Amino acid sequence: MRDYANLFRLDGRHAVVVGAGSGIGRESALALAAQGARVTCADRDLDAAEETTNLGNPADPVPSVAAQVPSQLTSYELDVLDPAAIERAVAELGEVDVLVFTAATNVRKRLLDYTGDEFDRVVALNLRASFDLVRTFGKAMAERGSGSIIGFSSIRATTVEPGQSVYAATKAGLVQLLRTAAAELGPSGVRVNAIAPGVVETPLTEQIKAHPDWYSAYAEKSALHRWATPDELAGAVVYLASDAATFVTGSVLHVDGGWTAVDGRFEPPN
Ligand SMILES: NC(=O)c1ccc[n+]([C@@H]2O[C@H](COP(=O)([O-])OP(=O)(O)OC[C@H]3O[C@@H](n4cnc5c(N)ncnc54)[C@H](O)[C@@H]3O)[C@@H](O)[C@H]2O)c1
Repeated sequence: MRDYANLFRLDGRHAVVVGAGSGIGRESALALAAQGARVTCADRDLDAAEETTNLGNPADPVPSVAAQVPSQLTSYELDVLDPAAIERAVAELGEVDVLVFTAATNVRKRLLDYTGDEFDRVVALNLRASFDLVRTFGKAMAERGSGSIIGFSSIRATTVEPGQSVYAATKAGLVQLLRTAAAELGPSGVRVNAIAPGVVETPLTEQIKAHPDWYSAYAEKSALHRWATPDELAGAVVYLASDAATFVTGSVLHVDGGWTAVDGRFEPPN
């Protein structure tokens, strides 16, 4: 019988979380470490990554123990817009069992107002950097014969509204990139999946929170009638990283409070 009591444990695994300095990446790093993984908190913003590391590591480790046992969380400076830095990270970080990447950006603007530079900036981070991460870490995982890659898409991969054009296109593109990676790396034992969050309160969505009407319209859209907090995404990451998901690859896991399931515009009278 399988060890169901420990189905989600990640003891002995090494997880790299890119974007661990904020929001969903931070909570994912903390949750993976809580399940026993050694976690590298990678981010362009090293101070932010270190804040995550400090949140997850015991405040006063016993010095003699700390000297022998590596911390569960360590920080690492990585700008994923630099393909050579990704190559370096793969060489420096050693064997990686789990790669989670969350770094992304959005320019909320109507299509006709978008500039070419804005298009390039959103595509460079959301799509090109994801491509570089998947192929570089994925190659090393395939050579070892195992690994789990988890990328962050969005409800915007399937449903849009005015102002989401390029972001939505990158998030839909990411799903197809990850599905193809799942097809190509599956025979080598590497699983590749996407998580599609709904609206989550993080620095990425601060612009929306500043407008009460916009904020509450988003809250009302989901079946749960509220926003998510970033820790509510961490369970999906742990699941896809763990042996609970050994037969799960090429999938898109929606964690959206029912946003994409419901198209309710009117409540029929009883
Ligand atoms: N917040 C939401 O409502 C929401 C909804 C749907 C999808 N998502 C997706 O979830 C993911 C995480 O979103 P979040 O809200 O936690 O974002 P966030 O902005 O809070 O965090 C992103 C992190 O990525 C880091 N980063 C940015 N550029 C980088 C670079 N070049 N190299 C390395 N690190 C870099 C930032 O420093 C930051 O720590 C994103 O892919 C986002 O598109 C978020």
